[in-house]
Amino acid sequence: MDEIIAQGADQPLEAPEYHVYPPKLKDPYRTSRFEVGEDMYALLGISREDKPARLKWLENNFRFFNAPAAAFCFVETIMGPPQWADLGMYLQSTMLLFQEEGLDTCAQEFWARYPNTVRKFCDLDENWMLFCGLAIGYKDDDHPVNQLHSKRRNSGEWLTFL
Ligand SMILES: Cc1cc2nc3c(=O)[nH]c(=O)nc-3n(C[C@H](O)[C@H](O)[C@H](O)COP(=O)(O)O)c2cc1C
Repeated sequence: MDEIIAQGADQPLEAPEYHVYPPKLKDPYRTSRFEVGEDMYALLGISREDKPARLKWLENNFRFFNAPAAAFCFVETIMGPPQWADLGMYLQSTMLLFQEEGLDTCAQEFWARYPNTVRKFCDLDENWMLFCGLAIGYKDDDHPVNQLHSKRRNSGEWLTFL
């Protein structure tokens, strides 16, 4: 684990086992993804050109944003898309239960860049695919990043009622 942290986030050592986003993401998803990133960096006062500052922010993921506790979420490789949906539901319920207990969370697909290292850290074999990390703690309401409210598109743009 220390090795990947020392190397920094600009050079992932390992081939990711799934695409966090499809390689050719189409609109409106592509634009929304771009906008939420830009809105976040604007709140942090980091410009588009300032790649080192963006990288430095990204590296907060390695420290789980200074959260006192963390978890990793895996799925067995024999499972397919229906079970990945189950996993998402489980993860969301877990996050809501933490919230009920007064704890905040941040799911971190960032960790999908390092599946081998995290598997080794968790003493798991290759039958397990890492989905994400989960930072668990207390959010700092005064931090600029926590002023981010991602825009919601009108449901008519992405939802079809018949
Ligand atoms: C599955 C999942 C993975 C995420 N991965 C990361 C991550 O690696 N790093 C990060 O800073 N935020 C991550 N986020 C947090 C989002 O960037 C966003 O801040 C959060 O979902 C709150 O915005 P929302 O209200 O639009 O969902 C993730 C969220 C989800 C649901």
